[in-house]
Amino acid sequence: MSKVTPSLKAAQFTESVIREMTRLARRHNAVNLSQGFPDFPAPPDIKAAAAAAIDHDINQYAITWGSPRLREAIAVDFHRRHKLTVDPETQVTVCCGSTETMMATMLGVVDPGDEVIVFEPFYENYGPDAILSGAIPRFVPLREPDWTFDPDELAAAFNNHTRAIIINTPNNPTGKVFSREELERIAALCQKWDVIAITDEIYEHILYDGTTHIPLATLDGMAERTVTINSMSKTFSVTGWRVGWAISPATLATGIRKVHDFLTVGAPAPLQEAAAFALKLGDDYYRDLAAHYVVRRDRLLAMLERTGFRCYRPSGAYYIMTDISAFGFDNDVEFTRYLVQEIGVAGVPGSSFYRDPARARTKLRFCFCKRDETLDEAERRLAKLQVRA
Ligand SMILES: Cc1ncc(COP(=O)(O)O)c(C=O)c1O
Repeated sequence: MSKVTPSLKAAQFTESVIREMTRLARRHNAVNLSQGFPDFPAPPDIKAAAAAAIDHDINQYAITWGSPRLREAIAVDFHRRHKLTVDPETQVTVCCGSTETMMATMLGVVDPGDEVIVFEPFYENYGPDAILSGAIPRFVPLREPDWTFDPDELAAAFNNHTRAIIINTPNNPTGKVFSREELERIAALCQKWDVIAITDEIYEHILYDGTTHIPLATLDGMAERTVTINSMSKTFSVTGWRVGWAISPATLATGIRKVHDFLTVGAPAPLQEAAAFALKLGDDYYRDLAAHYVVRRDRLLAMLERTGFRCYRPSGAYYIMTDISAFGFDNDVEFTRYLVQEIGVAGVPGSSFYRDPARARTKLRFCFCKRDETLDEAERRLAKLQVRA
């Protein structure tokens, strides 16, 4: 048999369905409500900070684990908002987006054969992240309509082989924001079983209906065992810039930093300077961001419900998970294909967020980080959709 083949590791997962949907949307000239990136301009002052950094010739490798100015800004911002002291010298690692941060974290703190708990539905990268790091994922369901977990099921997922648990709050794809009570349950289990918590908090500023985001690291005894991952992508509407970071105990940072060094050497140097600027914008910026998105959330919710989708109302992030039973299709993939090819609107089939596609047969996710004109066009096209069931 030929050895000129992809590796066994690479053969264990598929290409990202979300990214594939964006390519399909382009091919069919569909309105793209699939991949979560804004189609409106980034804030002008943040763009100006990036351009100024290039003009000032910040064009060579930054320090591998992040420019000192950015690490300092990350530590100051976290302390200002959450009252947790973070040492920028030893506890902050800047990577290429939260995607690489998560990969570097998994490779840097998890060993092959360790179990990693993942809530399902999950952001699709976590599966390949586990495979590439040799970890065995253990899934714990979040059940609609509120996407809560069963405390006994969660407790049963922990054992002596558990090395880490991944928590994404506010959550993609469900819009769930984990409550303090839920986080306390998770924290107690992490402490009981000596487990590392890896939290993906990249939607922390996109919150609705008075919901608050609680970083797991701020719970008693958790800063010592939590890797808090964040990124510029969603908060500052610059998903293409690829600047993210991890805040972690120094011991874990040594592992994350080494892996990061050999994966990418460093994140884009001038854009790190722009991130340092952006993190100083403060609370008005974050308030405006959430206010901007709540209007879009309510608009897309109303539009989808009028069309026949059943919607799970998100409390955070910029996605709406829907139930598509009313349209009478056999499964989510078939319906998604019909929607993109015949109606001209792209979403993401629910099965890309589940290990077992049967659990997602009637689910589809849309995003609403889009301009009014984009949502207007989606509305016009969705009006052609017929309820069949
Ligand atoms: C939960 C979650 N984590 C990570 C990412 C990737 O973020 P980044 O652009 O920082 O790599 C996304 C992007 O959609 C996401 O939804």
